[in-house]
Amino acid sequence: MTENLKLVIVIGSVREGRFGPVVASWIAGQAREHGGFVVEVIDLADLDIPLSLPAASPKYAGDNYPWPSGMAALTSALESADAVLLITPEYNHSYPASLKAAIDWHFTHWTAKPVGFVSYGGAAGGRHAVLHLENVLTELHAVTIRDGLSFPNYFTQWSDGRPLDTEAPAYAKVMLDQLAWWAAALRTARATTAYPA
Ligand SMILES: Cc1cc2nc3c(=O)[nH]c(=O)nc-3n(C[C@H](O)[C@H](O)[C@H](O)COP(=O)(O)O)c2cc1C
Repeated sequence: MTENLKLVIVIGSVREGRFGPVVASWIAGQAREHGGFVVEVIDLADLDIPLSLPAASPKYAGDNYPWPSGMAALTSALESADAVLLITPEYNHSYPASLKAAIDWHFTHWTAKPVGFVSYGGAAGGRHAVLHLENVLTELHAVTIRDGLSFPNYFTQWSDGRPLDTEAPAYAKVMLDQLAWWAAALRTARATTAYPA
């Protein structure tokens, strides 16, 4: 197993009274038990991420892009990440604006990196949010992981900070195995060959 793969877990919702941190805490525990990663959790609610973007495109500005200092923790975490796991609820059949802002402020940070998803919501379990995220992240040259975790009706399906579904840790392991495989493969690829973007 490749050592020191860094997994950044991003809590995408910033809503008052949100459930996101419960999901993030559980999956962070699964990722630490998995053993394939060094895990860092970034909570977007702790950051100041402006909705207004600068005139310059991050695609062309390179290191001169004015990333706000209020979200430096996210920027440096994404920079050093070998894999990212997005924790997202579903808002009006998509993902929260906080997560879109966090994604849009970054550009090359996503290139040739694997991104997995853990979603939750009502009957659809946040799957509409994930479908939209997959679309957006493909534009940013990320590699999205097929086997995510989805928690429908989480309000009746979680207790004491964990899902009631006893199969959930096994599903998490499948996703984390795939994420680790891609993280190792893409880290080697990034180090040896310039990505043709
Ligand atoms: C603005 C808003 C829109 C929502 N739209 C949906 C939706 O389209 N589908 C769904 O399953 N749940 C929807 N919900 C319910 C959320 O999935 C649920 O409130 C969840 O707890 C939100 O995550 P959070 O607590 O981490 O913010 C919505 C909630 C909000 C606040």
